[in-house]
Amino acid sequence: MQQLFFSKAVVLALAIAGLVVASNTLTRPVRRGDRSYMRSISEYIDSIADELWPINKELHDNPELGYKEFKAHKLLTSFMESHEGWNVSRSIYGTETAFSAVYEGTGDGPIVSFNAEYDALLGLGHACGHNLIATVAVTGALATAEIMKSENLPGKVILFGTPAEESLGGKVKMLEAGVFHDHNISISLIAHPGLSDTAYMITSSTDRIDLEYYGKTAHAAAAPYEGVNAQDALVLAYNAIAMLRQQSRATDLVHGVITEGGQSINVIPELATASFQIRSKDDSDLAPWTERLLKCFEAGALATGAELNLTMRPYGYSNMVNNELLVDSFYDNYEGLNGTLPDRVTDSMRTPGGSTDQGNIAWEFPSIQPMFAIYNENGSLPSGGPHTAPFEVAAGTKLSFKKALKVAKAMAGVAVDVLTTEGMVDEAWKEIRSLPSRNGISPSRRRRSLKS
Ligand SMILES: *[C@@H]1O[C@H](CO)[C@@H](O)[C@H](O)[C@H]1NC(C)=O
Ligand SMILES: *[C@@H]1O[C@H](CO)[C@@H](O)[C@H](O)[C@H]1NC(C)=O
Ligand SMILES: *[C@@H]1O[C@H](CO)[C@@H](O)[C@H](O)[C@H]1NC(C)=O
Ligand SMILES: *[C@@H]1O[C@H](CO)[C@@H](O)[C@H](O)[C@H]1NC(C)=O
Ligand SMILES: *[C@@H]1O[C@H](CO)[C@@H](O)[C@H](O)[C@H]1NC(C)=O
Repeated sequence: MQQLFFSKAVVLALAIAGLVVASNTLTRPVRRGDRSYMRSISEYIDSIADELWPINKELHDNPELGYKEFKAHKLLTSFMESHEGWNVSRSIYGTETAFSAVYEGTGDGPIVSFNAEYDALLGLGHACGHNLIATVAVTGALATAEIMKSENLPGKVILFGTPAEESLGGKVKMLEAGVFHDHNISISLIAHPGLSDTAYMITSSTDRIDLEYYGKTAHAAAAPYEGVNAQDALVLAYNAIAMLRQQSRATDLVHGVITEGGQSINVIPELATASFQIRSKDDSDLAPWTERLLKCFEAGALATGAELNLTMRPYGYSNMVNNELLVDSFYDNYEGLNGTLPDRVTDSMRTPGGSTDQGNIAWEFPSIQPMFAIYNENGSLPSGGPHTAPFEVAAGTKLSFKKALKVAKAMAGVAVDVLTTEGMVDEAWKEIRSLPSRNGISPSRRRRSLKS
């Protein structure tokens, strides 16, 4: 502990600073590094841009589905290994396409981590731009390590390869296997392409359900009274859900597809199947919304006499919690790079769009997932957002890659802020500890026990 002697002027200055801090809703720890590291981060990233472009391009041009990202896994782990000081572990914790790459600083200190995604969409390639997510994470991690090295900083930076974000819950699987806890991460950083720049990722909590109704086959004209119509059960359930929508909150969503209704027009269908996805603002809203939907599914079975087999898929996603202190640091860093971000208060109150498995991590570790606009070759925005063909094209352009590098600079800035700012980790963790439904049980785990 350093002994401090205050002059009267210093005491007065501190008192004024104290008033300013107190009038702010956020307590900002005093930053040791300020923006002085950004120049080095920026120059370093510019210097490796030519090395990074082929990685981004190869990922984009070779889309692979969740848990089958073998090429991406090989590409990224070899790339990290080719950089000095990185300890790369492949296929970690039983997940073949997951990995970690660890860079150690000069001793104990904060452990800053980046998540790379690299899975694509069926039939749509990299229409969610996960190649750019990987690029931001790899770049941010390398730049953070570079500053750690040049400044002799204590702590660690870890790059996690997190597969299967699209519906299959790669990060939830890794979280439950203990990956992030075992590495004792202080923060978890990730960024996502979109149609505009924002520090906030606002997503819903979600679960996915598979349904099967079992009826009894019969001749549709000769002996319909002997049959139990599985298709009718499903149609009834579908209509009950359509009526329930009127009584839902704006943030309660349900959508799905009927995958089988029957085979022959003159046979009472004995099997009908469907899959539905349920979403709500957060886990506390999702639980009662799910209960009401289950009643609709049961209603179909009750009215027709068909038997219901309902399966809740594993790895439900929790809503994203944006750590305000890290958001704060991202604003400083991104605006320091002449980036523009929307008004913070309005932006933080956006309606949720989609869901992400980073949400589950964000309930357990301080996290942010800023979004950034990507562009067509001619500088225009893609005419469709994530999960559309135009977005896939934009995810592969040089302009979008350059944008990803800019975001990576700001993300490295956040990581370096955490590494160099006394008390910042503790302050960020206060937010985690103050989250409402944390009673030692992960909210997502509670939700998945709703199986029937
Ligand atoms: C790399 O990480 C592995 C797994 O954590 C560890 O067993 C090994 O000792 C590390 N190697 C070095 C050189 O630090
Ligand atoms: C994990 O990190 C915290 C600081 O963030 C530290 O206090 C604690 O000792 C670490 N735990 C382990 C097991 O290394
Ligand atoms: C219920 O549905 C699940 C998922 O489709 C399936 O794996 C399981 O075999 C079904 N159970 C029965 C009893 O048919
Ligand atoms: C930001 O804009 C100012 C004023 O135009 C310029 O001096 C500065 O170099 C820019 N900074 C970056 C990182 O582009
Ligand atoms: C820019 O490129 C997109 C995608 O190729 C195209 O749809 C759009 O018309 C172009 N805009 C202009 C102004 O040329």
